[in-house]
Order: sequence, then C-alpha cells, then structure tokens
Amino acid sequence: MAAIRVVAILGLATAALAACGDMAAQRPSAGGPAVTPQAESMKRMVADVTVVRSFAGAGGGDAADRAQAEAAAADLLDWSGRMAELFPPAVAPSLYPDMTEQMVRNAPAAMRRTAEALLSTTRGGDRSAVADRLASVEREGCGACHR
Ligand code: HEC
Repeated sequence: MAAIRVVAILGLATAALAACGDMAAQRPSAGGPAVTPQAESMKRMVADVTVVRSFAGAGGGDAADRAQAEAAAADLLDWSGRMAELFPPAVAPSLYPDMTEQMVRNAPAAMRRTAEALLSTTRGGDRSAVADRLASVEREGCGACHR
C-alpha cells in the first residue's frame, strides 16, 4: 500500500502529484499514451481543489473569489459523477493493483456526497466552512482511493 498515499497531503499539491505518480506508474499502460482520461480526470480535480483551497484561504497568492470557488466545486462534482465510469469496479482493481474492488465501489458515492456538500457550502461563501468541507472531500472522497 506504500504507493498510494493519503491525499490529505494535497495541501501540497506537488507532493500529491509525486505520490500519486507512483500509482500511475504501476498501471500497465504506463509509458503508453501521455494522458489517459483517468489521468485527465485527476488533473482536473486537483485543479478544482486548488481553486477552492485558494478561496478558503489556504492557497496563498491571489485568492480565488467565491464565484470561482463555486465553479470549481461544480466541476469537481461533475468529475465525481464520472468516477464510476472512469474506474469501473470490475476492471480498475486489475489495472491499479493498490485499489481493492471495495475501494472502487465506495469511491464514486463518497466523491459525489462530499463534492455536493462542498458545492453548497461555496454558495454560502463562508470560507472556514468551505475549508472544512474541502477537507472532507480530500479525506473521504479522494481518500476513498488514495490512502
Ligand atoms: C475512484 C478512485 C479515485 C478517486 C476517487 C480519486 N483518485 Fe486520484 N487517482 C486514482 C488513480 C487510479 C490514479 C492513477 C491514474 C492514472 O494515471 O491512470 C490517480 C491519480 C491521481 C493523481 C496523479 C495524476 C496523474 O497524472 O497520474 C493525483 C494528483 C490524484 N489522483 C489526485 C486525486 C484527488 C485530488 C482526488 C479527489 C478530488 C482523487 N485523486 C480522487 C484514483 C482515484
């Protein structure tokens, strides 16, 4: 399990990219097409998380505004809805040796549930509430696959 690290460390997006790169490196197609839809989905979700974090106040630099955070949370929810299609439980565990079938089965619902809560919180605009909901996305949503 060493290859899949907790995505709570996404506070350091680059560290997460390095950690998750381990998982990508294990897939049979590594060295194949540069960008798979699966890898693309992860890039987009990381970008969304980064925008929301910036709004929540932990991003440093130019903070995203509320509308940007809401748009990013909406995009994250869209991608969450595609997790089951991108990582079919019958297939994904054989492609990604660190994923169990149970992880893959639980992950899409956990992503959707936490991303939905995040989206509604961004509408309210309370930065610290958004930070809490973002932590749940990372811990329970991303964390369903990345631990
Ligand atoms: C359904 C399981 C699953 C969920 C949920 C999930 N990931 Fe991933 N993630 C993977 C797999 C599998 C890979 C390796 C993908 C590949 O390259 O083929 C990956 C790769 C990554 C990578 C490396 C990107 C790359 O180009 O290889 C990052 C960063 C990442 N995930 C972050 C996240 C974040 C942030 C979330 C939550 C918003 C998340 N993941 C949710 C399964 C998941």
